[in-house]
Amino acid sequence: KAPSIALVGATGAVGHTLIELIETRRLRHNGVRLAASARSAGRQMEVDGRTCTVEDLEGFDFSDVDIAFFSAGTSVSEKWARPAAAQGALVIDNTNAFRMDPDTPLVVPQVNADVLTGRPASGIIANPNCSTIPLVRLLGTVEQRWGIRQVVVSTYQAASGQGQHGIEELQEGSELALHDPDAELPAERFSKPLAFNVVPFIDRLLDSGFTMEEQKMLQESRKILGLPHLDVTTTCVRVPVVNSHSEAVWVEAAAPVDRTELVDRLAALPEVTVHDRDVPGRFPTPLTAGNPDHVHVGRVRVAPHNPRGFWLWLVADNLRIGAALNAVQIAETVLDRGLL
Ligand code: A2P
Repeated sequence: KAPSIALVGATGAVGHTLIELIETRRLRHNGVRLAASARSAGRQMEVDGRTCTVEDLEGFDFSDVDIAFFSAGTSVSEKWARPAAAQGALVIDNTNAFRMDPDTPLVVPQVNADVLTGRPASGIIANPNCSTIPLVRLLGTVEQRWGIRQVVVSTYQAASGQGQHGIEELQEGSELALHDPDAELPAERFSKPLAFNVVPFIDRLLDSGFTMEEQKMLQESRKILGLPHLDVTTTCVRVPVVNSHSEAVWVEAAAPVDRTELVDRLAALPEVTVHDRDVPGRFPTPLTAGNPDHVHVGRVRVAPHNPRGFWLWLVADNLRIGAALNAVQIAETVLDRGLL
């Protein structure tokens, strides 16, 4: 039977993208209910041609919900995801709350759908971090063919990773700075002003000196790829881009890599576009990458001085690939396999 669906955080940036994907991908469902904070309760939104009224998450009854998508932030998931699962909903959680929980699978369907064999012990399936997802979509084939010694990543992450308020802060700051170069720019969401700036700090600082965002990319990549000793090290940087994350990725393999074979292997992956497969040097950017449901790759180059090492540049829509699309693809996998 078609599942009934709840969207927690329906009014946010990921929530809006989830609604769009449920409509365009024609996800089978038997009704969609929307939840957000008390601030939005009573607001009306269109889903699949029907008007839905946003409900307050406080007091929301999940007992008739089959699949609940959570994208309202980590603290909201920490408080409400387990109660929702206890009421019988299968939770697909977009936050950091349960990703490293041993009873919760962490899933990128194109990589490790095989870990979905039934209802998880926690009743929750975690959606990985928005920068981890496109990276692991590419690394598996490299590990299988050449073996990976180390991965070094610098990210260029968009404002939409901080939700609708992040986008608005970038837009407001940009307008202020254009009109008055000396204006004091807003710096609430990104710890420093983001307009006309770059900020090498995302999430919180850990004792190690790395940020939580950087630690997530290491731990989550290991869990998804099933490689507990994988060496991934990252600098995560926020850039004044509205949407779509980019990453500069250096991989040191265990054996010499042939560029043509590498490019062919990457291009053969599902929903991956390699821009410099036939025309060397072509590359995607957040504004020009094309199909927002693909991971876009370019500037693939093996180092002349070290043929075991190569660089690539990737771009992926963080609201779709990095959040809502991965969550919907998890739901599609669950439904296709009859795991509800
Ligand atoms: P609301 O619009 O009522 O504040 P974004 O990531 O774009 O900032 O969106 C966050 C989403 O999470 C919004 O839908 C927001 O609802 C929701 N949200 C934030 N805090 C809470 C809360 N305490 N309870 C329920 N929903 C929340």
